[in-house]
Amino acid sequence: MALTDLLAPDGAAADWTVPQDWASYSAAEHALWDRLFARQSALLPGRVAPEFLEGLEILRMTKPGIPDFAELSDRLMARTGWQVVAVPGLVPDRVFFEHLANRRFVAGRFLRTPEQIDYLQEPDVFHDVFGHVPLLANPIFADYMQAYGQGGLRADALGAIDRLARLYWYTVEFGLIAQPDGLKLYGAGIVSSHGESLFALDDPSPNRLGFDLRRLMRTRYRIDDYQQSYFVIDSFEDLLRATIEADFAPLYAGLEGLPDLDTDTILPGDRVYTRGTQAYAQNKMQE
Ligand code: PHE
Ligand code: FE
Repeated sequence: MALTDLLAPDGAAADWTVPQDWASYSAAEHALWDRLFARQSALLPGRVAPEFLEGLEILRMTKPGIPDFAELSDRLMARTGWQVVAVPGLVPDRVFFEHLANRRFVAGRFLRTPEQIDYLQEPDVFHDVFGHVPLLANPIFADYMQAYGQGGLRADALGAIDRLARLYWYTVEFGLIAQPDGLKLYGAGIVSSHGESLFALDDPSPNRLGFDLRRLMRTRYRIDDYQQSYFVIDSFEDLLRATIEADFAPLYAGLEGLPDLDTDTILPGDRVYTRGTQAYAQNKMQE
């Protein structure tokens, strides 16, 4: 199926992109971005993978205001050949994969309201740009994201998008990385969230388990609250190697009929960094 078979909404191009229309952001929106940015940059040093902070610098994202995607894309293009393009909201899987496979990251252009400063369910420009874009300046991670897009197109043909989506969730969105001085954050869903930036590293509640491709493809995830398990990679090189070298087709086939694992399960074979108390999730259930 060609990209154009999925009809884009009115006002969007055939590939679902829209102009960012940077000039139309209000002063209040730029100020809210600055507030979100200041809060996360105060929290993240020492807690996030150094590559993330390097990305912020390289791309000059420390400059005040909501970034102009055109400017961001120029810097990114020079560095790793990636671009940031605006889309109206969530896009169909195939559209998303096509963009990634061509080194284009799709980002929402709207910003959350001040009332949503701590939590919102749909990705806004702060999550998409602050959370995702810095690591695209890293050549290894940039290659991983493109390979993921290519893998997505393939997974679609194999009817295995749900399995592959779990890989994205537990790496790109909620991944942790082991460093000599302890675990660090790199997932965009964590680094763009004040609460989860603390919870994912410090809270005794969640499990922290070693990355295992096959295991992770069986594991459900939560879209409505903090994760009950995080998966830890040893390095971005390892992540790229483990995913690029594996042929996912037999992996998907081998998983067919196997039951899914719950969000808090620990298996005998897991490499356990933290056996979580799950107190946070249990308290939530009683509410
Ligand atoms: N190796 C995967 C496949 O055979 C492609 C892929 C690479 C997927 C990297 C995700 C990340 O489908
Ligand atoms: Fe995201």
